[in-house]
Amino acid sequence: MERILILDFGSQYTMLIARRIREMNVYCDIVPFNKIPAISPDVKGIILSGSPSSVRAENAPQPDLSGVPADLPILGICYGAQWLAWKFGGEVTSSGSREYGRAKLSVKDKGDDLMKDIPEESQVWMSHGDTITALPSNYKVIASTASVANAAFRVEGRPVWGIQFHAEVHHSEFGKQILRNYVLGICGCAGSWTPASFIESTVASLREQIGSDKVVLGLSGGVDSSVAALLLHKAIGAQLHCIFVDSGLLRKDEFTSVLASYKGMGLNVKGVEASERFLGDLKGITEPEAKRKAIGRDFVEVFNAEAEKIQDVRWLAQGTIYPDVIESSAVPGASATIKSHHNVGGLPKDMKLKVVEPLRLLFKDEVRRVGAALGLDPEILGRHPFPGPGLGIRVLGEVTPEKVAILQEADAIYISALKRWNLYNGIWQAGTILLPIKSVGVMGDERTYEYTIALRAVTSVDGMTADWVHLPYDFMAEVSDTIVRGVKGVNRVVYDICSKPPATIEWE
Ligand code: XMP
Repeated sequence: MERILILDFGSQYTMLIARRIREMNVYCDIVPFNKIPAISPDVKGIILSGSPSSVRAENAPQPDLSGVPADLPILGICYGAQWLAWKFGGEVTSSGSREYGRAKLSVKDKGDDLMKDIPEESQVWMSHGDTITALPSNYKVIASTASVANAAFRVEGRPVWGIQFHAEVHHSEFGKQILRNYVLGICGCAGSWTPASFIESTVASLREQIGSDKVVLGLSGGVDSSVAALLLHKAIGAQLHCIFVDSGLLRKDEFTSVLASYKGMGLNVKGVEASERFLGDLKGITEPEAKRKAIGRDFVEVFNAEAEKIQDVRWLAQGTIYPDVIESSAVPGASATIKSHHNVGGLPKDMKLKVVEPLRLLFKDEVRRVGAALGLDPEILGRHPFPGPGLGIRVLGEVTPEKVAILQEADAIYISALKRWNLYNGIWQAGTILLPIKSVGVMGDERTYEYTIALRAVTSVDGMTADWVHLPYDFMAEVSDTIVRGVKGVNRVVYDICSKPPATIEWE
């Protein structure tokens, strides 16, 4: 499988470079700059990413490229470009012009392969404190900005390029074209990495890896675990044993409908009803992290008890995806924004299971594309993210069965209205929150004293930052009215108009 290797020096944009390459249907790997693997013939090019460091700093990241064949194309981006200039005798200083944000790029060498089809002038995105003030003698400038002469260069006689700007960022108008010129043109990648080819090769390697062993997998109702299950099912059929736990904290009727949908897809799945246990263990707990711990512990224990009933199971399958893998292995102080959230975790202790993670090479949108190609129920495929602890962290304060029931009703009204109004698919995540306060209202001629429901809807790319959605007033009026009329125990509905940061998506 042809691939591009991206050396991670810790830039916040490293992952974005990988995304752009994957969008060309070319597979790529991100590896720490100091753990370069042996270069096999399937590696078609190497990209040196950006970094928060300065090449002049004492402990600046220094890759060892001695194992890289001289004819393998290299592209340095930002820090990568500075390093390529500095390492071979150029000059990088902090006294030159710093640039942050948009800049105008002028192409100086129209005949250069990297600049193919790039207009004479275009906008690029800059973010650098250091500047390359002098290039080594065999380097040639191929593009400049008003304040940075050496904005892009090529090494004469070797397939090595450097760009000071971030071609991977959306604001670089022709950035995608520059990356295409590199990956498809200079490196000569065919771009044949598609969901279908991924499924074919993964199914074959899963069969080989697992043989006739049994595998256990915890389903959550979300996209990742469902796609992992379908891939394994295609590879090993009934040797895959899925477990789907009802914590009592799922959305209204979700356990039954999702279980039916899994069975409809032919999965060997066991539904385990454990609501009473979860809700019982939440009694009296009000602190969010304590609730998370209690729920997490119950998940592990219920899952393990079920897994142990499967005789001779050898493997535990997980729906780990690429960002999870990268986040746990990234360069220190680097691109990593560490997630503390984990859904169902914990390896059954005494069972000594080996771990299989069929999605560990994929980004979320690729998981969706693979899911679609595998025929995953569109309801599950398009589903908003939902936290592992479920409604347990959307009932603020102590969780009781009554409060969960109120929240489930309100949530069902909200989500079905979003779908009816064709708003659901444009939203990254939506849900309702039950506030732990009561307020006075009047219904008919009677005074009421009941709970408040908050509605939340955000757009986001990865959940790390989010904007609140400007829902239409008519829509909000309909939802508020339907909830207050239809859900006993609620007499007020409010809408959350905070983005993340400073707020978070969930309230707890
Ligand atoms: P926050 O609230 O931190 O949420 O802005 C970001 C994303 O993570 C989800 N989330 C969780 N997911 N276990 C999970 O599996 C958790 O404990 C958890 N807490 C938040 C949240 O729904 C959003 O998608």
